[in-house]
Amino acid sequence: MLAIHKYVIVALLLYSCKCEVDDQYYPRYHLAPPSGWMNDPNGFCFFKGEYHLFYQYNPDSSQEPGIAHWGHAISKDLFTWEHLPIAMYPDQWYDKSGVFSGSAIVENDTMYLLYTGNLNHPDASLDHEQHQALAFSIDGESVSKYEENPVIDAPEYQPNIRDPKVWKNGDTFYMVLGNSFENETLGRALLYSSADLKSWDLVSILDKSNGSLGYMWECPDFFEIDGKFVLLFSPQGVKPQGDKYNNLYQTGYIVGNFDYDTYNFTPLTEFVELDHGHDFYATQTILDAFNRRLLVAWMDMWEQNYPERDDGWTGQMTIVRELSLSKDNHLIQKPVAEIILARGRLLYTARRTKGSKRIELTEKTGEIRIKSKASKDLNLFIESKNQSVKISYDHKQGLISLDRGGHDGLRRTGWKPIRKLKLKIYVDASSIEVFCGRGEVTFSSRFFPEDKVFVRLREDTEAEEMTVSSMRRTVEKPDSNN
Ligand SMILES: *[C@@H]1O[C@H](CO)[C@@H](O)[C@H](O)[C@H]1NC(C)=O
Ligand SMILES: *[C@@H]1O[C@H](CO)[C@@H](O)[C@H](O)[C@H]1NC(C)=O
Ligand SMILES: *[C@@H]1O[C@H](CO)[C@@H](O)[C@H](O)[C@H]1NC(C)=O
Ligand SMILES: *[C@@H]1O[C@H](CO)[C@@H](O)[C@H](O)[C@H]1NC(C)=O
Repeated sequence: MLAIHKYVIVALLLYSCKCEVDDQYYPRYHLAPPSGWMNDPNGFCFFKGEYHLFYQYNPDSSQEPGIAHWGHAISKDLFTWEHLPIAMYPDQWYDKSGVFSGSAIVENDTMYLLYTGNLNHPDASLDHEQHQALAFSIDGESVSKYEENPVIDAPEYQPNIRDPKVWKNGDTFYMVLGNSFENETLGRALLYSSADLKSWDLVSILDKSNGSLGYMWECPDFFEIDGKFVLLFSPQGVKPQGDKYNNLYQTGYIVGNFDYDTYNFTPLTEFVELDHGHDFYATQTILDAFNRRLLVAWMDMWEQNYPERDDGWTGQMTIVRELSLSKDNHLIQKPVAEIILARGRLLYTARRTKGSKRIELTEKTGEIRIKSKASKDLNLFIESKNQSVKISYDHKQGLISLDRGGHDGLRRTGWKPIRKLKLKIYVDASSIEVFCGRGEVTFSSRFFPEDKVFVRLREDTEAEEMTVSSMRRTVEKPDSNN
């Protein structure tokens, strides 16, 4: 008996050692791939009582994007995610070099997916082309591609025309597509319309780069919010300008008016970056069943080579955020209300927290809420053995910054708190999201803390109120090491 037990235990240990992924950096409450590579969120929708989030996925390697598939996860609360089988494979002539990004629309109890099929021609003068395709799912799990794909060919707009975002207004469907023109030197957003999701007509060019906004606009989105219209997109090729545009690629928006009769979009603002951290790209929004405009982004950036790659997974999504528009036409981002379900144990709470107070987070997770005087500086560290992220508010200059150290560690922007200085900071095993004030400024950045993580106020600063809670593990550990 004893011998058998020993044998079984040894076998189990060997078995678990072989499969175990070091989950040191794997998120506890953000969606990440079960293994392999994740980038853009796709097909975000609310279908038959559940949120569905698809994503650009390479199941075969965490080292490179490979040939994109659509990964798939569902959640009832936007924090507890369950992985479903791969929804779409690159298995058709028009998508064999990648089932690229796209969106979902629910109609007649069916989930329709519109996406970009990428087709490479390594030896031709046009090295790739991109066609828009339709797919659908009735059960929310198995996806069928439409037999008469592609639904948009657009030879005159090749080779970069992608990332359809679809919505409905009245009886008509609309789609915004990212495109590159003038020999791929300028980006723009094209607007299409359709009565049936299958036959599409170009109706206008919503907006375009004049040279200052890049060579390609990826992941465009267009929606009405609080009486205005927002064109949200991820331009490539915008040059750094002081504290602005310091990531490889940007995500930002233009607020304006829009007329469904003429299809004219009239901007009221300049392009504004939506987030000020290092890792925020390829946003997608939806209007959910509760009439909330929800946003999710890929919390990563191209060409970063973060250490999680060697743990068998790459990429994660941000916390889903609810959007609103301020009177002065700025998007406000708040973590969705469901976040309270992911909040764990209370670790610390006090009025008047003096500098140098150091609080240990559990499992590298935490929600840190701080209230303080807007007329005093604040300096706070999220720190571990080998990496420290510093969050600083400079009241004289009206600046808020996040510095994760190392090369290109600093990100900052102007911010004048309304009345009190208020921060909400969400720490996960390899990420940090900072919401300032009502959510008028956010920072989303990855960091890779070794071992335990602590939060500490700098000696010379103090908080009027400070509360720290752990966050619950709402996502499963990854299951295999590539
Ligand atoms: C939904 O059903 C209505 C009524 O049968 C039909 O007219 C419409 O075309 C359907 N929508 C789609 C996208 O197929
Ligand atoms: C694009 O490039 C080709 C070849 O270099 C050139 O003939 C053509 O005029 C260019 N078109 C535009 C719109 O710049
Ligand atoms: C492009 O437009 C922006 C404003 O949207 C303006 O600041 C900039 O000077 C323009 N650039 C060029 C090259 O015309
Ligand atoms: C901290 O250590 C981990 C594990 O050795 C490493 O992956 C990470 O890059 C380190 N971070 C810094 C800033 O050195």
